[in-house]
Amino acid sequence: MKTVLSGIRPTGNLHLGNYYGAMVNFLKMQEEHQCFFFIADWHALTTHPDPKLLHANVKNILSEYLACGLDPDKSVLYVQSDIPEIAELYLLLNMQAYLGELEKTVSFKEKARQNPNNVNAGLLTYPVLQAADILIHNADYVPVGKDQEQHLEMTRNYAKRFNHKYGVDYFKEPAAYNFGQELIKIPGLDGSGKMGKSEGNCIYLIDEPKMIEKKVKAALTDNGPQNPNTPKPDYIENLFSILRVVSTPEVVAHYDNLWNTGESKWYGSLKKQLAEDIIKITTPIRERIQDIRNDDAYLLKVTKEGREKARESAGKTLREVREIMGFKPF
Ligand code: TRP
Repeated sequence: MKTVLSGIRPTGNLHLGNYYGAMVNFLKMQEEHQCFFFIADWHALTTHPDPKLLHANVKNILSEYLACGLDPDKSVLYVQSDIPEIAELYLLLNMQAYLGELEKTVSFKEKARQNPNNVNAGLLTYPVLQAADILIHNADYVPVGKDQEQHLEMTRNYAKRFNHKYGVDYFKEPAAYNFGQELIKIPGLDGSGKMGKSEGNCIYLIDEPKMIEKKVKAALTDNGPQNPNTPKPDYIENLFSILRVVSTPEVVAHYDNLWNTGESKWYGSLKKQLAEDIIKITTPIRERIQDIRNDDAYLLKVTKEGREKARESAGKTLREVREIMGFKPF
């Protein structure tokens, strides 16, 4: 059994791409490994979120995680700011992080370019905080997308440097958890790349059926298959990609067949079917999200238990790190 850890910033809601991309794998991982799933609310501070919204956003993501099936009895689910040990390890790891490297981090350069008036030190040391998140539980694996690989590489560097500087073999070097073939990519509804909140082409798990119908209806199509013997254009292929995930093989075969026969005027029916099948999948999740969001007693219980378990693991690491570094109680 390995230790797996994943963090998510509390910005926005989960969409279908998150669900099939990460969540279905999280659900499998929690059966096989010791998993830590947490909400990175300190990381959200780098972009100065509205204090009135911060808590609501944390509550949202937590409710969505639980509604999707992350199980607090199997995994440790917690909020980053509930674990002061992470902040202390962050301080200590800052001594292993060099300015030149931090300035060269791709995510930092991008954020600094986008917001030249808010290049704060928290943004610069974002990867150090992320390293503290990971090393505080000495995680073996971190499921990450491409955009996070550099942060993981930096985490390994801090772990190695720490071990080397203090002549210990203490921190593990966390590896990217590679979903490989299992990773399902959900394309956006606008005919372009993948579904992502910044692209504005998402279907959210909390979208009401009417909204889902509207979004699917608005997806880009054309006048119908022009030539059945050519490959489908990207925007049609994308609709089929989502269909393959949410519908039955028979439904997919039916529309594939329509494409192959070159018949026209069935894109409307395809979209109707697609919306219906998405709604079938999201409806129970949406209803659970609403229930959980309104159940303060349950959320209190989950966060309290998560905090206790996370602090136990984090506290152990921090005691050992302090000892290695030469901090001693009187
Ligand atoms: N930086 C990650 C993101 O933007 C979120 C995150 C914070 C994280 N700490 C983490 C991810 C630790 C994995 C492990 O998506």
